Amino acid sequence: MNLMQLIKLVLDDAYAAIVAPDDATKDAQIKVEMTNLSAEYGNLTSKACAPIDYSNAVKRFAYIYKYTVAHADYIMQLIKASNELRELLDKRSIEVACLGGGPGSDLLGILKFLIQTGAKDLSLKCYIFDKERAWGDSWSDVASLLKPPFQIYPVFQQMDITDATTWASYQKFLRADLFTLSYFLSEVWKIKDAAEPFFEHCLSQMKSGSMILFVDNNDSRFRDWFDAMSKRHKLVVIESAEGELCFSNDEEKDDLGVYFRKFGWPKRKSDAAWRIMAKG
Ligand SMILES: C[S@@+](CC[C@H](N)C(=O)[O-])C[C@H]1O[C@@H](n2cnc3c(N)ncnc32)[C@H](O)[C@@H]1O
Repeated sequence: MNLMQLIKLVLDDAYAAIVAPDDATKDAQIKVEMTNLSAEYGNLTSKACAPIDYSNAVKRFAYIYKYTVAHADYIMQLIKASNELRELLDKRSIEVACLGGGPGSDLLGILKFLIQTGAKDLSLKCYIFDKERAWGDSWSDVASLLKPPFQIYPVFQQMDITDATTWASYQKFLRADLFTLSYFLSEVWKIKDAAEPFFEHCLSQMKSGSMILFVDNNDSRFRDWFDAMSKRHKLVVIESAEGELCFSNDEEKDDLGVYFRKFGWPKRKSDAAWRIMAKG
């Protein structure tokens, strides 16, 4: 099974979890939610708008379809293009911490890279941290469905980064080889003051030699925030860039099956900023 086929199965579950009288009603609700999400992402810097709530099953389907597919591809591309990240992942045992990684994009991107490069005989432990508990269900079956030629251990842990009582006792993820922050800082920018202690904790406690892959909307408020925190913790800048990221694999869209016919292309292009940093 390839990754898109896996995403199709996850989407099937997410679709089945939506309670509606019939498929036409579900599809109409999903299309509305895709539009809503896009409007909400346009308001990420407006403190007047509440943080996005992913507890609704329609919204989760809309997110996985529209954004997870693209973000996973961006993560794969960024890893593939970086000698340092490729080297970091070329080990028998890898631990990754995906912060704000509930929808699975970060994990899928890493898997996509490992599968494409023919990795085998390795063990990948992936801590997925997110405020929304319901994401946990989506990815718990990844290993048994995908059956890659290596071991995957996804560990979903619910935490709200603005509430230290939910994260202070998690210790093991701090020894991860790689931390991913994919479209996470932009999401919590409006609650920056409450969110920052968590990032400070991670940056100060992560082990020497570990790396961070940050990718987000190309807005100076988000990237400056990340850059300032990285600088305070004296992270080594391996790559710092802004530009367009594109996802346009024509063959893969067929694996999205009926959903592609109903909902069209997932997000395909982003004006993005990305950083690859290492702890000295
Ligand atoms: C835009 S999504 C990014 C998801 C994924 N990393 C990606 O690239 O597609 C932002 C994620 O941050 C999570 N999130 C928002 N506020 C949070 C908080 N205070 N603590 C932990 N996670 C939070 C959301 O539930 C959501 O899954």
